[in-house]
Amino acid sequence: MVKIKIDGKSVQAKEGSTILQNIRDLRIDMPTLCYHEELIPFGACRLCTVEVKTNGKGQLTTACDCQVAAGMDITTASDKAVESRKLAAELLYYKYPTTRVVREIVQKLVSPSPRQRLKVMTASSAGSVPEPAKISWGSAP
Ligand code: FES
Repeated sequence: MVKIKIDGKSVQAKEGSTILQNIRDLRIDMPTLCYHEELIPFGACRLCTVEVKTNGKGQLTTACDCQVAAGMDITTASDKAVESRKLAAELLYYKYPTTRVVREIVQKLVSPSPRQRLKVMTASSAGSVPEPAKISWGSAP
């Protein structure tokens, strides 16, 4: 067993367990999409991002594929973690706008809706969007 903290609560976690398993043991709601308990986790969707401080240094990590280590101080709803999960949901939405599960995740995580948020972002940066860089592929043979 290793001693960790999740959202300020001290937890005795099983060695080799993931952050996500311990979050779920505490019945903290955490979105997941690519995680399945019978598959090897691979951290692709990034919807389970949390903030972890170890030795005072904080970083974002995916909870489903990160094993606990002694002294981890995990925050599930820090501003950085929440914003990261929103961004991951928005990216999924733009790629899969008609997929039911993606729409449900986005509705839960992103408010206002991704379309409204994009309009706000576009309107607030109107006129200041840099032109995309021109890429040179070299001369044709
Ligand atoms: S559930 Fe997809 S990265 Fe964790």
